[in-house]
Amino acid sequence: MYVTLRERLTAACSEAFAAAGFDRRFGEVSVCVDPAMADYQCNGAMPAAKSVRRNPREIAAEVAAAVAACPDVSSCEVAGPGFINIKVRDASLVGDLANGIGIPEADKSERGIVFVDYGGPNVAKAMHVGHLRSSIIGESLKRILRVRGHHVIGDVHLGDWGHPIGLLCAELKLSQPGLPYFLGGEGRFPTEPPVTIDDLEVMYPRASARSKEDPAFKEEARRLTAALQSGDPGLKALWEHIREVSVERLEADFASLGVTFDLWDGESTLADGLSGLCDHLERSGLAVEDDGALVIHVAREGDTKELPPFIVRKSDGAALYSTTDLATLYAREMLGASRIVYVVDARQGLHFEALFRSARITGVPDTLRLDHAGFGTVNGPDGKPFKTREGGVMKLSDLVTMAREKAMARLVEGGMADGADPGEVERIAHCVGIGAVKFADLSTKRESGYVFDLDRFVSFEGKTGPYAQYMAVRLGSVMEKAAAMGLEASAIGTPSNDAERDLMLSLSRLGDAVVRAERSLAPHEVAQWVFEASQAVGRFYLASPITKEADAELASRRLALAAVARDRIVRGLGLLGIDVPERM
Ligand code: ARG
Repeated sequence: MYVTLRERLTAACSEAFAAAGFDRRFGEVSVCVDPAMADYQCNGAMPAAKSVRRNPREIAAEVAAAVAACPDVSSCEVAGPGFINIKVRDASLVGDLANGIGIPEADKSERGIVFVDYGGPNVAKAMHVGHLRSSIIGESLKRILRVRGHHVIGDVHLGDWGHPIGLLCAELKLSQPGLPYFLGGEGRFPTEPPVTIDDLEVMYPRASARSKEDPAFKEEARRLTAALQSGDPGLKALWEHIREVSVERLEADFASLGVTFDLWDGESTLADGLSGLCDHLERSGLAVEDDGALVIHVAREGDTKELPPFIVRKSDGAALYSTTDLATLYAREMLGASRIVYVVDARQGLHFEALFRSARITGVPDTLRLDHAGFGTVNGPDGKPFKTREGGVMKLSDLVTMAREKAMARLVEGGMADGADPGEVERIAHCVGIGAVKFADLSTKRESGYVFDLDRFVSFEGKTGPYAQYMAVRLGSVMEKAAAMGLEASAIGTPSNDAERDLMLSLSRLGDAVVRAERSLAPHEVAQWVFEASQAVGRFYLASPITKEADAELASRRLALAAVARDRIVRGLGLLGIDVPERM
């Protein structure tokens, strides 16, 4: 089993603390804050000393003496009040880079079936920037969890049930009351959808506005929602058409983003079981009546925020967002899930808190881990949620087009499109544009919002996706050039200069970044690693010529390092859902 260098050093330090009579947890090792001083450091001597009122330097010296004997360590010294500074042996760096992909799998006992619930678009509504974040972060978390050895199921959890559908039916009925769907009876319904996705995208905002102004219309929409949910055949047929045309568009949108799902389930998937579920909750006393509705009381003593009851059935009998989420949670539990990760706007925090509490109250055991991986908003230059120039919601497909165009402009500016065939340039622009948007999103802490600034995202310099892509492409072209010259890579060797050593050290840290990313559901850990590794590649590129190196043996060793660097950076970008173009 692969173990990262940092983990091996942590094991050595923990062992040393234990031998000195202290708790093992003092042995945690992290990257040294001052890379000129050492590669890694352990700060455990200070808290350990406090627990026994001893001098921390003394304890650090004892631990350091033991750690210095570890085969991965070239030197281990005490600094300042009791920091333990560790330098690793070059041979250990070489060993790490020669050892597979550089990412450890999770412990067997911790691996399980993980549902990642992300994307979450609603039928009949164009996806907007909020769904962009869910899709990008969810796709990345799915890949991170997967590489750690979990069985991961990505589920789009379509918004395809409930009030919005009733609104659409009411709107359509208003303009075409004669459609067979509205005439009652079991009749035969058209096989072709009565509307296109473009119609729906116009109809939905209209219906939503109408229901705010016209109480009769609102009531009709409510009635149709309830009728659909209790199985009206005409409305069911119409609903199926609405879902069908929507899914087609959504699939195309997701494909252009490079986002794929294992399950296209949605709020409607368990629709037939919802009323039975509510009856059961009511009979068992887990849910109670409240103002005509059926609710689960989730508030607890000591809550700092008031949690409203979790409504599972409205007074008119209709199911809602909460009902479908609870039913879906039970279904995932039954499928053997050990964890469910919901990648949804942080503003839905209370909903998920109430959902999770409802699950526990109704008997879902703690062995099923539930996480709301909430995220901040994508903002405009004014710091408010991103809108179009006209003030409308920014459609995801328009955003993708903008990113592609901006990337194209940059490629042309940089002379990178000269002489290439237009189809290829289009493909590269798409890859770079999407990569830019994804990297900008994922290099931000998940919980924070950020300003959508395409000019910055698409820049080839700085902490951007195109910069990292460019470094990977450059490594690829060096490898190609070397191959054309007949230069072959040898095994990785000890570094011949500081830039090489820094690069090796940086590459050996991919696994730690992935582990941290899994632990906090935080892809930015991987994005940060990609950025640092790319910078190290930039320095290596300047300090360590390959095709122009006279010493053929040295050139072959550098070539081997270039290949590992490319492999790990491509892999890191892959965990972010970012592809690397063939050229740039
Ligand atoms: N459709 C919802 C929305 O657009 C997001 C769904 C999130 N997933 C969930 N299981 N509730 O806000």
